[in-house]
Amino acid sequence: MSKEELIKGLNEDLAAEWGTVIRYTYQAGHSFGVMGIELREMFAEETEDELGHATFLTDYIIDLGGEPTTIPKSFDKPDSLKEMLNLDIKMEEDDVASYMKHAELAEELGFVELKFKLEEMAADEAGHARGLRRIVKGL
Ligand SMILES: [Fe+2]
Ligand SMILES: [Fe+2]
Repeated sequence: MSKEELIKGLNEDLAAEWGTVIRYTYQAGHSFGVMGIELREMFAEETEDELGHATFLTDYIIDLGGEPTTIPKSFDKPDSLKEMLNLDIKMEEDDVASYMKHAELAEELGFVELKFKLEEMAADEAGHARGLRRIVKGL
């Protein structure tokens, strides 16, 4: 596994983070009623986490000598609230898997800070997925 492959993987993660920032902003705009008030708060909190992740990845890719992407990963736009939140759960879970995979690569290459930070970010995404599952359960 080379540094170039790691940079490529981190750029996929970065594209996912930009996509999530846009997705949550878009979904917050489509959240109405009393439930919408709570959803908007949750999306705002999570967007802050995702922006922190995107900032870390941007800095780290540059420090590795790469070019960080500014192109977001695209996402579906389901009509129903439940489908929308289920999509979010799936995408958060995908992010967990990707961060764990790249944490292993980082460890192989000896990037200790990156390994632990990616694991921490995986834990953040797992927490987001868990919070979303609790909301869906109550629908
Ligand atoms: Fe994130
Ligand atoms: Fe997340």
